[in-house]
Amino acid sequence: MRRTVLITGASAGIGAALARTYAGRGWNLILTARREAPLNALAEAAAAAYGAATVVIPEDLADPAAPERLVADIAAGGLVVDGLVNNAGFSRVTGFLDTDLSAHRAMIQVMLTAPVELSRLFLPGMVERRFGRVLNVASLAGQMPATGGDTLYGPIKSFLIKASQGLHLETQGTGVHVTVLNPGYTLTEFHDVNGSREQVSSAYPAWMWMDAARVARIGYDACEANRPSVTPGVMNNVMAGLARFLPDGLALRMVANHAKRLERI
Ligand SMILES: NC(=O)c1ccc[n+]([C@@H]2O[C@H](COP(=O)([O-])OP(=O)(O)OC[C@H]3O[C@@H](n4cnc5c(N)ncnc54)[C@H](OP(=O)(O)O)[C@@H]3O)[C@@H](O)[C@H]2O)c1
Repeated sequence: MRRTVLITGASAGIGAALARTYAGRGWNLILTARREAPLNALAEAAAAAYGAATVVIPEDLADPAAPERLVADIAAGGLVVDGLVNNAGFSRVTGFLDTDLSAHRAMIQVMLTAPVELSRLFLPGMVERRFGRVLNVASLAGQMPATGGDTLYGPIKSFLIKASQGLHLETQGTGVHVTVLNPGYTLTEFHDVNGSREQVSSAYPAWMWMDAARVARIGYDACEANRPSVTPGVMNNVMAGLARFLPDGLALRMVANHAKRLERI
C-alpha cells in the first residue's frame, strides 16, 4: 500500500528533491507551493519514474487561511495524510528595519505558523492510526547564535528545531516519527530568490555546497530512523558544534564576520 505525504514548498529545491525521494521510496504525493506549473511537471515525473499518484494543490502559505484550506481540500479528495513535510521557506537579506512589517508577517506565517498549524491539524490522525512521519526543514542557521541582515530567519528556524524536538519527544511510542532537518548551503533557487547568489558564491567555495537530492535523502532516512534531528554534511556539523561549544560572544563574532562577508550588515 502506498501511503501519502504532503510536501510544502515542493515547486523547487529541497522540497522537489524530497518529493522525488518520497516517491522513489513508495509514497504517493500531495504537492503544494504557489507555482502550479513546476508542481504539475514534478507530478508527471514522479508518476513516470516511480508510479506515484500525485495531487497538486497550489497555495500561498502566507495566507493565514491556507493550512486549514489545505486540510479541507485534502479531506474533500478523500486522501489520508500519513506524512507531512514542512519545507516551504525563504530568507530576506534586506535588513530588519528596511523590510516592511507585512513582509515580516508573511515570513513568520509561512515558516513558523504554517508548520505549527499543519502539524497540529495532521498529527492527531497519524497518532490515531499509529503511523506517521513529520519532517520539518529548518536550517543550520537555526543552530547558530543569530543571523545578521536576515534577522528573523535564524530565530524562526531555531523555533522550528526546538518545536520539532519537543514533538519528537511527545510522539515517542505512537508510531509517529518527528524529525528536523538542518541543511547548510544547498544548491537550490533559495539564494536567487533572496538576491544573494553572487555574494554567497564568491564567499563560499563549491565544496561547502550540497546538492538538494543528497540533503533530501539524508532527511528522509533520518525521519525513517526516528532521529530527532539531522544536520547534513561534515562541515555543517563542525559549524553547528562550534556554535554550541564556543562562548556566546565568540560565536556571535563568527556570525558577524559571515554577515559582513555577505554584505548583510
Ligand atoms: N538552500 C539552502 O541553502 C538552504 C539552507 C538551509 C535551509 N534551507 C531551507 O530549505 C527549505 C527549502 O528551501 P530551498 O533551498 O529548497 O529554496 P527554494 O529552491 O527557493 O524553494 C523554496 C520553496 O518554498 C516555496 N515557498 C516560498 N514561499 C512560499 C509561500 N508563500 N507559500 C507557499 N510556498 C512557498 C517555493 O514555492 P513557490 O515559489 O512556488 O511558492 C519553493 O517551492 C526552506 O525552508 C529553507 O529555509 C535552505
